[in-house]
Amino acid sequence: MTLYEAYLNGLKQLKNPDREEINLRILLCENNGIKSMSEFYLRKEENIRDLDRFNQDLQRFLNGEPVQYIVKKAQFYGDDFEVNEHVLIPRNETEEVVDFAIKKIKVKFGDKFIEVADVCTGSGCIGCELFLHANIKNVLFSDISREALDVAKRNATKLGVQGKFVCSDALDYLEKHVDVVISNPPYILNREEVDESVLKYEPHVALFVDDNLSIYKKIVEKSIKLGVPLIIFEIGYDLKDKLTNIFKEIAANYKISFYKDINNKDRICSLEKND
Ligand SMILES: C[S@@+](CC[C@H](N)C(=O)[O-])C[C@H]1O[C@@H](n2cnc3c(N)ncnc32)[C@H](O)[C@@H]1O
Repeated sequence: MTLYEAYLNGLKQLKNPDREEINLRILLCENNGIKSMSEFYLRKEENIRDLDRFNQDLQRFLNGEPVQYIVKKAQFYGDDFEVNEHVLIPRNETEEVVDFAIKKIKVKFGDKFIEVADVCTGSGCIGCELFLHANIKNVLFSDISREALDVAKRNATKLGVQGKFVCSDALDYLEKHVDVVISNPPYILNREEVDESVLKYEPHVALFVDDNLSIYKKIVEKSIKLGVPLIIFEIGYDLKDKLTNIFKEIAANYKISFYKDINNKDRICSLEKND
């Protein structure tokens, strides 16, 4: 069977071809060692390399498994990151947080090389991309999940990122000053809002936060204790008011700001120490 025939065959089985067609091509490219979509079109008359494997992968996708877990990688900020069932698939919203952080770091620290702690690192995507795009001498990657940390370590090694890897609850491990703390902690309050496929396949420890938003509070309290000048969070779209109340109480000496994402949702929060 040619790649194109396999493609047409797969297309017929998709529930929502408009949205899912890209994933079918990702599966075919992965199955055949094809690196780009243009290469896929050039090679479409070749025989498919492993039809059984492709059919198994397609079946997994049709059953609702995210394509990134099937091919074990996800694109983030222009790089491929290994992902597995222990880590959240990096989201586009988080690319916006990285973008924001790169600009903020440049304005605040200029040409100085700084140290960053990426808390709740998951696949390591935030810390790695900051290292690659800002003046960072070292990243401290931490996560409560040892399995996630292993994935972050492999991603950092592959991308040539200098870092230390610590299994820790929030920032409990940190005993010295760093220049920036950045985190995308679990931030979903309401299970009902979550897609079935996310609930079924993504690690729940990466998704849900308690009603008191304790993880945000813990990270900020420890950062303040260590005199961290800049803290950046990705936040749930519905957390701005709650977080404002929490941070006003515990971070009086910090300027608290919220920023909207491309969908006009409050997604980024920064806390900057007043001089
Ligand atoms: C929303 S995911 C973010 C992953 C990655 N930073 C990203 O942006 O794609 C949250 C991560 O926090 C970790 N986590 C959950 N509770 C934690 C805690 N109390 N302390 C440290 N890490 C925690 C989870 O294991 C998960 O990897």
